[in-house]
Amino acid sequence: MSIEKNLFGLLPNGKEVYIYTLKNNNGMEVKVSTYGGTIVSLLTSDKNGEFHDVVLGYDSLEGYLKGDKYFGALVGRFANRIQYGTFKLNDKEYKLATNNGPNHLHGGIKGFDKVLWNATLIEDKNNILQLSYLSVDGEEGYPGNLNVNVKYILTEDNSLELHYEATSDKDTIINLTNHSYFNLCGHSSGDVLNHKIMINADKFTVNDKYSIPTGEIRNVDGTPMDFRTLTPIGANINSDYEQITFGNGYDHNWVLNTTDSPLTKVAKAICEHTGISLDVYTTQPGVQFYTANFLDGSDIGKDNAIYNMRNAFCLETQYFPNSINCSNFKSPILKAGEKYDHKTIYKFSTI
Ligand code: GAL
Repeated sequence: MSIEKNLFGLLPNGKEVYIYTLKNNNGMEVKVSTYGGTIVSLLTSDKNGEFHDVVLGYDSLEGYLKGDKYFGALVGRFANRIQYGTFKLNDKEYKLATNNGPNHLHGGIKGFDKVLWNATLIEDKNNILQLSYLSVDGEEGYPGNLNVNVKYILTEDNSLELHYEATSDKDTIINLTNHSYFNLCGHSSGDVLNHKIMINADKFTVNDKYSIPTGEIRNVDGTPMDFRTLTPIGANINSDYEQITFGNGYDHNWVLNTTDSPLTKVAKAICEHTGISLDVYTTQPGVQFYTANFLDGSDIGKDNAIYNMRNAFCLETQYFPNSINCSNFKSPILKAGEKYDHKTIYKFSTI
C-alpha cells in the first residue's frame, strides 16, 4: 500500500487542491481529491489482468468546479432530498437552502462536494487517507458545528473502505454518502443496461413524482424493483410501473435487509464483459440505486468521454432520503456530543 500526493489545481480563491493516489500491491489505484472528497478515478483489474477506470469523472479540477452531477463526491450534510428543505428538531423548525426546485438536495447549494477538505495521512499498516471538515453552525441552514472525518482505506483484498465519523455541539441531522458513478465495463464504455445487479432488500421506499419518499414502504415482490437475485439493470428499466416512470429509471432508496453482523453485504454488480464484480457492504439502513437518468451527454469526462443517460449506476448507502420528515424511517438525528459512525466497503473482484 502506498499513498502519493500531487497538486490537482487551484480554486478561484487561490487555495491548493490536492489529489491523493492510493495504491495497493495488486495494482489497484484510487485517486481522491481534497475538493469535495471526490473519488476521481478507480483502477481495478479485469479477468485478463488489464486495468480499467470504473468510475465516471473529469480529468481536471475545472470539470469538478463546473459540474453538477456529483461524480464521485462525498455528499453531506444530508444525502438526497429533504422535502421543501424544512424539518423540525426539538420543536424548532429549520429551513435549509433549497437547490432542487423547492427541495434540498445533497446538502444544499454548497454541500460537502463543493468544499475543500483537509487531508492527513494516518501511517499505519493500512496507510489511511483522512479528510476532515468543520461545517459551522448554520451552514446551508443546518444546526450545530459539525466536525467530520472520513477515512479512505484501500486494502490488499481490493476493497475501498470509507469510514465516516462526525460529532456536533448541537442536536442536528446528518446523512453522509459517496456518489460514485460506476461502470464496471470501464467509465467510457456506454450504458450499463447489461450489468447485472443484486440488491439485498425486500422493500423499497415509495417516491412521489418529485423523487421524495412519501413514507410508504413497499415490498419489491412482483415489481421491477425486485433485485434480490442478480438481474440485468436493463431488464425492466423502461417498464411503465409508476415508480420507474417517476424516476425516469431507477432513482430510489431500498430498505436493506440487515443481519446481526454490523457490516451487511447489501449489493453486488457485475460486468460480464470485463468480469469485474463489485460487492458493497455497509452499516447503513438504505441504499439509493440511481441509474444516471440525469446524464445527457453534456458532460465531457475523462479522456474526452461523453457521458449519456444510464452510462453508470450509483449505490449510495445512507439513511433514507427525507427521513427526518418520515417518522417511520430510521432517524438521522445526531445528538450533541454523540458520534455518527458509519462504514461502507466497495470490494472489487473478478468472475
Ligand atoms: C442522486 C439522486 C438523483 C440525482 C442525482 C444527482 O442521488 O437520487 O435524483 O439528484 O443524485 O444528479
